[in-house]
Amino acid sequence: MQLHFSKKAMSLEEGIFAALNAKKNELEARGMTIYNLSVGTPDFEPAQHIIDAVSEAAKKPENYKYALVELPELLEAAQGFFRRRFGLALDQSEIMALYGSQEGMAHLAWALCDPGDVVLVPNPGYPIFRIGPQLCDAQVWEYPLLSQNGYLPRLEEIPEDIARRARFMVINYPGNPVCKAAPESFYRELIAFAKKYEIVILHDNAYADLVFGGRKGISFLSLEGAMDVGIEFYSLSKTFNYTGARASFAIGNREIIQKFKALRTQFDYGTFLPVQYGAIAALTGPFDGVIRQCREYEVRNHTLCQGLREIGWDVPDSEGTMFVWAPLPKGWTDSERFCMDLMERSGVICVPGSSFGSLGEGYVRMALVLPPQKLKEAVESIRRSGILNDGESTG
Ligand SMILES: Cc1ncc(COP(=O)(O)O)c(C=O)c1O
Repeated sequence: MQLHFSKKAMSLEEGIFAALNAKKNELEARGMTIYNLSVGTPDFEPAQHIIDAVSEAAKKPENYKYALVELPELLEAAQGFFRRRFGLALDQSEIMALYGSQEGMAHLAWALCDPGDVVLVPNPGYPIFRIGPQLCDAQVWEYPLLSQNGYLPRLEEIPEDIARRARFMVINYPGNPVCKAAPESFYRELIAFAKKYEIVILHDNAYADLVFGGRKGISFLSLEGAMDVGIEFYSLSKTFNYTGARASFAIGNREIIQKFKALRTQFDYGTFLPVQYGAIAALTGPFDGVIRQCREYEVRNHTLCQGLREIGWDVPDSEGTMFVWAPLPKGWTDSERFCMDLMERSGVICVPGSSFGSLGEGYVRMALVLPPQKLKEAVESIRRSGILNDGESTG
């Protein structure tokens, strides 16, 4: 039988990731030491009290029914957490659980857009920001994030007709892949822009607890007027290493949360109850481990970037996230080709910047998922490979 697939399904190929993975397997089979800096999964573990809460709940047969909604204790835990962590006074009707921010992003446009409506997304940006709206036939308009503008959008450069047609705008600070935090002044400007053009703001705050340089991640909802215009995703994946459990929240404007919740009842029968109990433990438990972990990421960040600078690759330290955004070394312009050659010659795997949008070309993203000693070894392996001395034409 000749199977037919939709244009959407055909357009979402694995692409470079399949090629990177095949090459990785080949090099491993040859016995090469691999430094995999391509993955976005933390190598840190969840705290024991979180694992205990999940395990205890998983032993009880009654926890295997459809959850349907958030446990009242979860909403209460979230309410308390967002008050302590960000100073937010949220009503429980302003909080909802998601199976991860990725899933929330994949579905949000269903609640806010009709086919042809415009969604403003960052380029470069985390791919689901663009793919989510496209899946519901919205029209994506990419706003550029350029290093010379501090990777912040120039709101005044968004054409008037696009701004008028835009239903929502996705922002993400500290951002993946640009590794930049945003100043409060930017959020204030953004809130005014959103009000002027009646654009909903979605702030993906996945890296709120991974901000470096003595700064503390904030919620944009804590700024005046933000609750009128937007919502925020807060994920337990990176803060609590609860990654595989798939637990995240959408918080903010009540009308948006309620409409999104109503739409999701079509496919969301509630987060698995043991996962909810684990989330309660995370949100109500001690937070010092999260702060320590942030410092460890910061040490990794500095170890890697400083090490690369010392061998002649000019890579700036990140301001936040669990990644480093590195401009290609001199002589290289094609990020896919650089990543393949780098892996072949040094065993270091990173993600080509082009997979985050056209303006990601010229960069690679490295994840801080190895301890400092291993990162030093990765740097040494890059030095020994000689790749920084010969560009694309000789590579
Ligand atoms: C910017 C950003 N948002 C969301 C996610 C995914 O979060 P979750 O695990 O909650 O789906 C990631 C994961 O890498 C991310 O980088």
